[in-house]
Amino acid sequence: MEKGVSLTQFIIEEQRHIQGATGEFTSLLNDILTACKKIASEVDQGPLIGIMGSAGSENVQGETQKKLDIITNDIMVDSLQWTGHLAGMASEEMEELLQIPPEYPRGKYLILFDPLDGSSNIDVNVSVGTIFSILRAPEGCDHPTLEDFLQKGTEQVCAGYTLYGPTTMLVLTTGNGVNGFTLDRRIGEFILTNPDMTIPEETTEFAINMSNQRFWEAPVQRYIDECLKGKEGPRGKDFNMRWVASMVAEVHRILTRGGIFMYPMDEKMRAKGATGKLRLMYEANPMSYIVEQAGGMSCTGRERIMDMEPTGLHQRVPVVLGSKEEVQRVMDYHNEA
Ligand code: AHG
Ligand code: MN
Ligand code: MN
Repeated sequence: MEKGVSLTQFIIEEQRHIQGATGEFTSLLNDILTACKKIASEVDQGPLIGIMGSAGSENVQGETQKKLDIITNDIMVDSLQWTGHLAGMASEEMEELLQIPPEYPRGKYLILFDPLDGSSNIDVNVSVGTIFSILRAPEGCDHPTLEDFLQKGTEQVCAGYTLYGPTTMLVLTTGNGVNGFTLDRRIGEFILTNPDMTIPEETTEFAINMSNQRFWEAPVQRYIDECLKGKEGPRGKDFNMRWVASMVAEVHRILTRGGIFMYPMDEKMRAKGATGKLRLMYEANPMSYIVEQAGGMSCTGRERIMDMEPTGLHQRVPVVLGSKEEVQRVMDYHNEA
């Protein structure tokens, strides 16, 4: 579709190409857009409306919640639970899955989300985001169980994120490529500005939290070491490094100019019995779907993320994603080891 069309028009026109589409999914997407616009507005107001800083509570992951973690979670829930398009919801900020209150009709979809990704950045005015993943609920399902949510990434109907940066952007896939929209605040609409986003296969930019270096496993040590050796090393070229600490911002950069993002398994995690840093169901899976749809690759280092059989709502996994050649190389180093 041409640049300049609104996201609303985009999804309605996409729906026309799907035989038997009832419009339920289109309506759900519209409700998600509204939620993301509300979040964009809150994030934008920040200290003006006293929403910065810690909430003084912890989420199920034992992480300190920011006030905005809670506010954005409430916005997602309040904007979506009444719509009749969902059979249930799950969020980083809610220990258990959320059933639709009895007074509202049920729909055929499930949504999982990270309402505010990169929330450690909020107090320093650096980009944050919202990530979401949409699954189909089993037929006739009124009260979804945990098992209903634990579907493989390959089962996703749609994945997207909103990036609250210098501009607010929404990036979306329904399995037919990746498109990026920019919020035009003058008219309150997301406008198609980045049609058919694709990730260059080659790159010279990596993103990893270097402070964990001493805990990394050998294949990751080898990969980064070779990048750091630059022109004089085995790669024969210089690499650049970035680390925003907001996965949404890192993935967006990679969709724009290529790169590799890694939050790998390490010895510190292993000692604590952790299986990774990022959460499979509402961070790794939706981002993997977007990255793969843009021609990139996403794995744990050892296996494709979207093929993993989920075991828990808040399950953590190692993540290596981005430009195909680099991700494949990291995977090869793991296999060789
Ligand atoms: P969240 O704010 O939703 O908990 O997620 C933060 C994640 C991810 O976005 C980012 O890549 C990573 O945590 C940053 O981790 P470090 O603080 O270890 O760098
Ligand atoms: Mn997150
Ligand atoms: Mn979060």
